[in-house]
Amino acid sequence: MIQLVGLGVAFGVLASLVALLVPWLPDSAGKEAERIEFVFWFTTWICIVIFAIVAAVIAYALLKFRVKPEDDSDGPPIHGHTGLEIVWTAIPAVLVTAISIVSGVVLAQNGNAGSKPLEIKVTAQQFAWTFEYPNGAKSGRLVLPVDQKVRLEITAKDVIHSFWVPQLAQKQDAVPGQVNKLVLTPTRLGKFPVICTELCGLGHALMRSQVEIMNRKGYEEWLRSLKGPGGGGATLAAKLFEDSGCAGCHTFTPAKATGKVGPDLDKLPEQAKRAGKPLDEFIRESIVKPDAYIEPGFMKGVMPTNFGDTIKPNDLDALVQYLASGGK
Ligand code: CUA
Repeated sequence: MIQLVGLGVAFGVLASLVALLVPWLPDSAGKEAERIEFVFWFTTWICIVIFAIVAAVIAYALLKFRVKPEDDSDGPPIHGHTGLEIVWTAIPAVLVTAISIVSGVVLAQNGNAGSKPLEIKVTAQQFAWTFEYPNGAKSGRLVLPVDQKVRLEITAKDVIHSFWVPQLAQKQDAVPGQVNKLVLTPTRLGKFPVICTELCGLGHALMRSQVEIMNRKGYEEWLRSLKGPGGGGATLAAKLFEDSGCAGCHTFTPAKATGKVGPDLDKLPEQAKRAGKPLDEFIRESIVKPDAYIEPGFMKGVMPTNFGDTIKPNDLDALVQYLASGGK
């Protein structure tokens, strides 16, 4: 009996170490993620206890009841054990019920947006995200105030995508012609990746954005800067270049951008010549309708086609000017 208990403790410790020492989940940054983490650990600890018992019994039986080399006899005939069968049916039934109750409670809590959530419309398309705020302002980057319930209303323009921020947990499909909801309550300041987690075409792996969780004041200032009058300036254009995620794919020395997915923006004049268009017009078209001209060596359909939506006309002028002048 002592050996059996010893084996059980040893297997339990081993499994616990694997569970605790490996960082299986990212550090959560939202209330919903914390609740999901709770269910995850609740289930995992139950599994570890069961694993320890089963592994100990198997190991004990292997060691203790090992047949001797010359022993060819049969074991004693045994016909079930009613008491044992009741126990091994009742215990799992109780555990599975407990897990389903805990999951059900968390599911209900995570789906509850409260009475006054911040509502943000999320539109997915090959291969970009557009976030629209209640005041009508649009952005390619998601900014959320901390400790505020948010309800995302997620849809898609072309094919099925899926919205996912690992630190906020939960994934929600973006389906054309349908609005799917997702409730988030950020609890931690920081920048986290927004990932498309449904294979949606050539640029799927590049369909990433960023969510930044700010304090209330920072969020409101950011929202004002988004909505405020556009209108020129290299500083604004540089910020736009960064916010729109251009650097993720393009090289552009003035912005210290070194992306290699799309054409080198230091060489725009040569590319405009190849496309047979004036530089300004070429740049504007390439931002708004990226597939109109494809530089040799690059592929159609990779650059997002939503910049005409997310960048205001005045801002677009500034960005074109910034790129055409080599960062001035
Ligand atoms: Cu959109 Cu993958």
